[in-house]
Parts: sequence; C-alpha cells; structure tokens
Amino acid sequence: MKLLILLAALISSHHVSATLELDSADLSSLKTLNLEGYLSFHDTHLASRDFGDCYHSLPSAILRPKSPQDIAKTLQHVFDLGPSKLTIAARGHAHSLRGQAQAPHGIVVNMESLADPKKRRVHEGGKSPYVEVSGGELWIDVLRQTLKCGLAPRSWTDYLHLTVGGTLSNAGISGQAFRYGPQISNVYQLEVVTGKGEVVNCSAQKNADLFHAVLGGLGQFGIITKARIALEPAPEMVKWIRVLYSDFSLFTKDQELLISLEKGFDYVEGFVIINRNGILNNWRSSFFTPENPIQASRFNSNGRTLYCLEIAKNFDFNNANATDQEVESLLAQLSFIPSTLFSSELPYLDFLDRVHASEVKLRAQGLWEVPHPWLNLLIPQSTIHDFAEEIFGKLLTDSSNGPILIYPLNKEKWDNRTSAVTPNEDIFYLVAFLSSSTVDSLEHSLSQNRRILEFCEKQGIGMKQYLPHYTTKSEWAAHFSHRWQEFVRRKAAYDPLAILAPGQRIFPKANAFA
Ligand SMILES: Cc1cc2nc3c(=O)[nH]c(=O)nc-3n(C[C@H](O)[C@H](O)[C@H](O)COP(=O)(O)OP(=O)(O)OC[C@H]3O[C@@H](n4cnc5c(N)ncnc54)[C@H](O)[C@@H]3O)c2cc1C
Ligand SMILES: *[C@@H]1O[C@H](CO)[C@@H](O)[C@H](O)[C@H]1NC(C)=O
Ligand SMILES: *[C@@H]1O[C@H](CO)[C@@H](O)[C@H](O)[C@H]1NC(C)=O
Ligand SMILES: *[C@@H]1O[C@H](CO)[C@@H](O)[C@H](O)[C@H]1NC(C)=O
Repeated sequence: MKLLILLAALISSHHVSATLELDSADLSSLKTLNLEGYLSFHDTHLASRDFGDCYHSLPSAILRPKSPQDIAKTLQHVFDLGPSKLTIAARGHAHSLRGQAQAPHGIVVNMESLADPKKRRVHEGGKSPYVEVSGGELWIDVLRQTLKCGLAPRSWTDYLHLTVGGTLSNAGISGQAFRYGPQISNVYQLEVVTGKGEVVNCSAQKNADLFHAVLGGLGQFGIITKARIALEPAPEMVKWIRVLYSDFSLFTKDQELLISLEKGFDYVEGFVIINRNGILNNWRSSFFTPENPIQASRFNSNGRTLYCLEIAKNFDFNNANATDQEVESLLAQLSFIPSTLFSSELPYLDFLDRVHASEVKLRAQGLWEVPHPWLNLLIPQSTIHDFAEEIFGKLLTDSSNGPILIYPLNKEKWDNRTSAVTPNEDIFYLVAFLSSSTVDSLEHSLSQNRRILEFCEKQGIGMKQYLPHYTTKSEWAAHFSHRWQEFVRRKAAYDPLAILAPGQRIFPKANAFA
C-alpha cells in the first residue's frame, strides 16, 4: 500500500496522467451524499488541465457545489473515511501553472459553480464599504457588480479572469499593491470550509489564526467559500503612460520614488525589453501590450536592453485638467529617455481588464492554450541590481517569448501574520518571466528557469518564489523558512489528514499516517 502511494506520487510529479485506481468503495461511498449540487465521475478530464499546461492529473470525480454545505458535506465524508487516498482540490479558474488546482485520483471542486450574481452583496454604507462574494467568483464579475454602485476593489491582479479564492490563496499582486498591499491585505472576512468539513467564519478579530492561515495559504487549510472585500470609490477614467529607460539604476530609482509617494501615480509596474536586433516594431504584441504598443518605428534600441516604466493615474471627467497638471509635474521628476513617452486614456474597467483584450486575440491565433512555463520571483531591493545584471541581456538574450515584468512593492503593506512569505526587506521586486512556449520549446524554457533559480541560489539573492512550486518537503521548509513550523502547526490544526490542495505537493496525504 505504501509503495503504491509512493508510485502515485512519483508518477504524478512527472507529468504523466496516472492510471492508479482508488479504492472503489471510497468512491462509491461518495454517491450516498445528499447534495444540492452534484458529483460527476465521467467528465474528469475537464479538471486535468491548467493554464501552465505542464501537469495533467486526472481526478476521480468533480464536485459542482451549489452551496458551501455541499463542500462541507463532501469534506466531512472524506475526513470520516480516515486513511483513504482521497484528496480534494478547490479549482478556481485553473489558472495555476504547475497543477496546483489538480487532485490526482481525488475530487476537484469546481468553485465557479458557487458563483451567483444574486449572492453578490455590496455594502455601501460607512467608512469601509465592502462586497461579499463567493470564493468562486471571477474578479471581473466582482468589478462589474461593484461599479454599479460607483465602487471597486482597491488591489488587483493584472488579469481579472481569476477567482477570488484562487488569488487570495496566493496573494494577488499588481501595480496597485505598493499602496494598498496585495489582495490578501484587503479582505475583512472569510467563510472557510476546513479540512475537517467545518464551516467557519473568520476575520482578524474572530478565528484570526485560521483567517491569516488561509490568506496566501496555497489552499492548505480550508476552502474559501465567501469573502468580504474592501472597496473604494471607483474612478471613471485612467491615464495610462509608458516611458523607456536604458539605464537600470535610473529605472529602479524612479520606480522606488513613485512607490514612496502618497499622492503619486495609482499604478506602478514595468517590464524589460531584450531585443538584440534593435528594432522594436516587430516586438510581438504580448498580451500586456494590447491597444497601446510602444510606437516602435519611432525608436531604435540599438540592441540595448530597455526598461519600460508603466504607470497610471486615475481621474474623473470633472478633474481631468487638474490631473493632467499633476501628471506633468510627476513626470518632470523622472529620468526616462525624453522621446519615449506614450500615453492614452481609457475607462477604468477597460484598464483593469486590459489583459483580457489580448487573451481574445491570442485565442484567435491559437496562442493562448499553450504551455506557460512561468516563473515569478520576489527579489530583495539589496540584490535586484546583481540579479538584473546577470539575467537581463546575459542569461536571457531575448524577451520575445513573453513579457518580463518588474516592479517594486512595499513590505509594510503586507500583513506578516498571513501565510504569504516575502523577502525580509522594506522593498522587494516582483520579477515575472511570463513566457509562452510550444511543446517543443518547453524543455528549453524550463531549463532557462532552472538556470535563473540556480543563479539566485549561488549568489545568495535571497529570493522567494511567488506562486511557489517545489516538490520536496525540505524545499518547502526553506521557502517558508522561520515560518515553516507555524505552517505545519496550522496544517495539523485545520487539515490534519492532508486532504486539501494536494497539487501543491507540500503535504502528501500518505505521510499523514507515516
Ligand atoms: C494570465 C494570467 C495573469 C496573471 N496575473 C497575475 C497577477 O497580475 N498577479 C497575481 O498575483 N497573480 C497573477 N496570476 C496568477 C494567479 O493569481 C494564480 O494563477 C491563481 O492561482 C489563479 O487563480 P485561479 O482562480 O485560477 O486559481 P486556481 O489555479 O484554480 O487555484 C490556485 C490554488 O488555490 C486553490 N484554490 C482555488 N480556489 C480556492 C478557494 N476558493 N479556496 C481555497 N483554495 C482555493 C487551488 O486548489 C490551487 O491550489 C495570473 C495568472 C494568469 C494565468
Ligand atoms: C458567515 O457569515 C456570513 C455573512 O457574512 C453568513 O451568511 C454565514 O451564514 C456565516 N456562516 C457561518 C458558518 O456562521
Ligand atoms: C480643461 O481645459 C480645457 C482647455 O485646456 C478647457 O476647454 C476646459 O473647459 C477645461 N475643463 C475644465 C473642467 O476645467
Ligand atoms: C510581524 O511584524 C511585527 C511588527 O512589524 C513584529 O513585531 C512581529 O515580530 C512580526 N511577526 C513575524 C511572525 O515575523
């Protein structure tokens, strides 16, 4: 029995759909559950893929819940079975990169079945407006709902076709996080189904340990069925600006200035352009450059690595002129290459949903459902220059496979009681290598990622992976570092049988009985 489990773990970590069968008694016992939604056993291939497209594990069943109680009943049932092989993974929009929302032989919970427009509640009153939604809602739908009341969440991801529960299980980072913190810093309350099948409401005041465990918790402690998300008045329009630098130090100096300002820009990101032939106009329309590509014909990089600062200022029609003046005086403090200012104005919703426009185009070209060997790193301010010098232009000589994002974040906006881990410096950078691959070039991309990670290790860069992917317990322990004991304690408290989110490969279920 132990051997079989070991074999299953080995097989699933090598990209092969495993063929081992579960105990059929465990499976058929599921059919006795009295649910508002339903379990299905015939269409499990629908839950074996994700955006990364590198791992494909078949579950034994898919749960399409109609209520949090459906999830609780299923979890309780599996918990009561005790030492079975059954695991359960919440599946948001499956935009994971390495099978994190998969459950080899287990049950995948299709969280989007919980989404329900009638159950999205906006509370406008008071100083702290919020919206309460199901964990399976897409952020784009949350935004559309709250905009009807002139409100919007404050902290975002670059792409909104992700679920609330999925991004809150990681962190949720974008160009607003320098000011508001990641999405996990903007939640008032959660309803969670724990690994024992208990439905618990939690917040920083009530069941605080569970609340903080679940935020950034990689799905290890419970399934988020509801979330109360902080709102602010929504601006009408956005002024979206890009400027170029050829000097990395000037680029990061300006980025760091902008994230220190109370009343500066409302969004600060950036990306790296590595293009040896110097001509930028065949720079592929990566999906982070939808309607507003750099007007390349006007600028030649002469083979230099370029850094593009991307910033935005929110405004309403009635203060457009004042905003123009503010933007001008902010830009005057920056050191970009003067001839490289590109700007446009667009409605707030179109700005936030900008990546979706590119998704539509890429889908039409068959370039969306391809392997995505992405690598996301959080790099301390003190080593970002060493990192950049080795990686941008030397180790990586071309950025045409996909965007390379880079922007700084303020650690003080992260709550250190949550499960998310970051470098231990006041400022750290998100560096995201977002390549698209073909099946043939996948191995090359993965080995490039390995070389980047090896460099970080060798040079003591002090990096933390974001959307972390490890396969051994000692790597996970190193990732969580001084927080590891706490992570293990929380696991024992909230999911003692290690039923939840097996695709993260942190606590193999078999080991729960070792
Ligand atoms: C195009 C694209 C752009 C992105 N941009 C950003 C970005 O700008 N910033 C950023 O921070 N991230 C970004 N991401 C990463 C994204 O946040 C993660 O991939 C996230 O996991 C995707 O959310 P999902 O809803 O698809 O979750 P899934 O991939 O379905 O799940 C992720 C993990 O969370 C668990 N989980 C899912 N739902 C729940 C729940 N309700 N309760 C508990 N656990 C749950 C799953 O079991 C799994 O382990 C991007 C991803 C893509 C594909
Ligand atoms: C949790 O709170 C929500 C309202 O925020 C309520 O609808 C739900 O019933 C509560 N759940 C529990 C288990 O108390
Ligand atoms: C903004 O400036 C333009 C000219 O620069 C002017 O025509 C317009 O009336 C101004 N709008 C407001 C709201 O002040
Ligand atoms: C979190 O931060 C507070 C204050 O900034 C500090 O006192 C505390 O020790 C930190 N906790 C952990 C777990 O790092």
